[in-house]
Amino acid sequence: AFAPFLAVLAAYLLGSLAFAVIVSKVMGLSDPRTFGSKNPGATNVLRSGSKPAAIVTLLLDALKGLVPVLLVKHFGEPYGLREGTMAMVGLAAFLGHLYPVFFRLQGGKGVATFIGVVFGIHWVLGIATGLTWLIIAFFFRYSSLASLLSAAFAPVYYLLGDRIQWYAERPVAVALFAMALLLTWRHRENIQRLVAGKESRLGAKKAS
Ligand code: G3P
Repeated sequence: AFAPFLAVLAAYLLGSLAFAVIVSKVMGLSDPRTFGSKNPGATNVLRSGSKPAAIVTLLLDALKGLVPVLLVKHFGEPYGLREGTMAMVGLAAFLGHLYPVFFRLQGGKGVATFIGVVFGIHWVLGIATGLTWLIIAFFFRYSSLASLLSAAFAPVYYLLGDRIQWYAERPVAVALFAMALLLTWRHRENIQRLVAGKESRLGAKKAS
């Protein structure tokens, strides 16, 4: 059980790289933990006014979920790494983002990393989840609402996938549900703001 342990540990460490903080620092922008929602994520980096920084953050935070899953999927077999490890590795990268060992366990909300993991599990699932985010964001202009709904739909899409058998990929379904629940928990303040009509809309700039 050494190879799965190492894979999960490596994914957690990779997930712990809070790219919102790193990218903002490298690009000379304010630390995203000091303004807006104070969340180290692409949405809040966007509030700094730099679209490129937000896009780079989104891509890197997604890649840290995508890469470990794809590595296990395509190169894991000789080391005895299968679906169970793939699911654990995705979850570990996601948990690294939420509770990063390099940032006093104060991480983000997991949206980009979740999307990356989902793309790694199956590209069709990734497209479906990503499109759900885009459509909701386009119509409602709330990043958080788009994130919450796409995370809720991802496990449903997964179970609907006709090429995927529930019993064969049970760990993957469980990991998806677990991530959707954790993501929702991390958005609890956003949910309160949405209900109160006080959530900031996409396109609004840095406030306080
Ligand atoms: O990326 C997380 C997003 O769903 C909400 O971010 O900064 O508006 O709390 P934020």
